[in-house]
Formats: sequence, C-alpha cells, structure tokens
Amino acid sequence: MPPSRHFLPWEINHLKRFSIDPSSISADNHSPVEYLSGFAEFKQTYFKVNQHTLIPRIETEQIVDLSTSHLRELRLNPISILDLGCGSGVIGITLAKYLLENTTASTHLTLADISPQALDVAKENSSTHLKSPHLKLFLQQSNLFDQIPSQKFHVIVANLPYIPSNNISKLDPSVKNYEPLQALDGGETGTELINKALSKIPQYLHPQGIAIFEIDDTHSISSFLTLQSLAVSLKNDEFGIGRFLILQLK
Ligand SMILES: C[S@@+](CC[C@H](N)C(=O)[O-])C[C@H]1O[C@@H](n2cnc3c(N)ncnc32)[C@H](O)[C@@H]1O
Repeated sequence: MPPSRHFLPWEINHLKRFSIDPSSISADNHSPVEYLSGFAEFKQTYFKVNQHTLIPRIETEQIVDLSTSHLRELRLNPISILDLGCGSGVIGITLAKYLLENTTASTHLTLADISPQALDVAKENSSTHLKSPHLKLFLQQSNLFDQIPSQKFHVIVANLPYIPSNNISKLDPSVKNYEPLQALDGGETGTELINKALSKIPQYLHPQGIAIFEIDDTHSISSFLTLQSLAVSLKNDEFGIGRFLILQLK
C-alpha cells in the first residue's frame, strides 16, 4: 500500500462531506480536494466542478453582493444578467438564485464561456440550483462577446483569466498542475482579455446597468483601457486589495 496523503483539517472535512476516505488518497496525488470530490463551495452552496473549470475563489463571492446592492436600488423587471467567462457558473447562478428567491422579477441569465466543457458544467449547476418559472436561461459558447447576441444587460459580471503568462509557472503546483490554463492565462500582461471585453461594454450595458470585472492584485485602473463613455472605479476585496473594476455608463 502506498503511503496516504496528509490533508489539512478543512480538506478532511470536505472529503468526508462527500464520503471520500482521506486515507484512500495516496501521497503522490496532489489534486485539490474540490477536484477529488467534484464539488466546490461558493457562498455556502456546493457547485459541481471538474478539470475544465476553475475552483471558485472566496474573493469572487463579493461580485454577487456588489451586483445585488446595485440592483436593489433599481427595481427592474425583467432583470438581465451576463456572466462572461462563467466557468462552473457560480457567479451568475448565485446571483440569479438570489434574485429569484428575493424579488418578483423575471431573471434572464446568460452564461457564456469559450470552453464548451465548462459550459456543460455550468448547465448542470443551473439545473441543480435554478428551478423557477421566472428564469430564462441562455448558455452560449462565445469568445468574449463575439457570439453574444446584441442586447443590453443590467448586470455584466466577468472573472476572466488575468494572470500574466510569465507568472503561470510561479503559481502553486496545486493550481498550475490541475486548474485549466485557459481559465488562468490572461496573456502577456494579464490585461488582454479584460481590455478586449471592456471595449464592448458600452455596446452591451444597459444605461442603468453595472459591469463588474475581477482583476489581478498587480493591476490598477490605469492598467486598463479607458473609454470616454464609461465611469470606472476600483473596489477592494475583503482582504483590502483592489480587486474589482466597476463600470457604469456616464
Ligand atoms: C478565472 S476563470 C473564472 C470562472 C468562474 N467565473 C469563476 O469565477 O469561478 C475564467 C473563465 O473564462 C473562460 N475564458 C477564457 N478565455 C475566454 C474567452 N476568450 N472568452 C470567454 N471565456 C473565456 C475560461 O474558460 C474560464 O472558464
């Protein structure tokens, strides 16, 4: 019998929750526990994940809160949401679930990703977590906005890859050896994909809407494209790090 892997207490709890015996995992298996169980937690809810989807990070949860506080003031019906680079779908699904449970508005949710395999996972998570006659769900394989039909969204959320290509090799082995490169690599400076997406925001954002992009802690507002029609601000994450670009039409 090969020696079994040493786990941290939270990892043991995670595995046991999914009836996996930690001692059955050998020491040479370094996979994140979320890929071993096939589930990751996001805002107290478990979502399916696999090797085609990023494991959602805790700081990303704040995008949901930033979106709901904006929408609360507007009282819209219907509410249309785009989650661009949705991966497992955690941001868009959690936001839509909150709206369906706490408002009477119809919710139109578009989950978009360049990876068809990630979209399959997002589809499964949508059927598990979103069961409401007030929901209209659209799953769209798309390179950024290229295949998104022309329309105006009230909320656009995007956690696109933002790690500079040269920094990928410096990531922890549990990230670089297991999480999909397509979910991590943001090009030479890590801003390429976000800048391309930003250039389309004026075309897709509703006049009362908000767009929220997660960014790397090495980036600041000046790292990104400036557009005359957009007001841009930077919001800190819960660790006090500038993490979210907030965009609204002027
Ligand atoms: C950092 S992951 C975020 C996943 C999920 N939104 C989350 O927060 O956990 C980035 C996602 O963007 C997708 N992606 C990468 N390039 C893209 C592109 N050009 N157009 C659309 N999606 C893209 C990846 O497949 C991946 O699912």
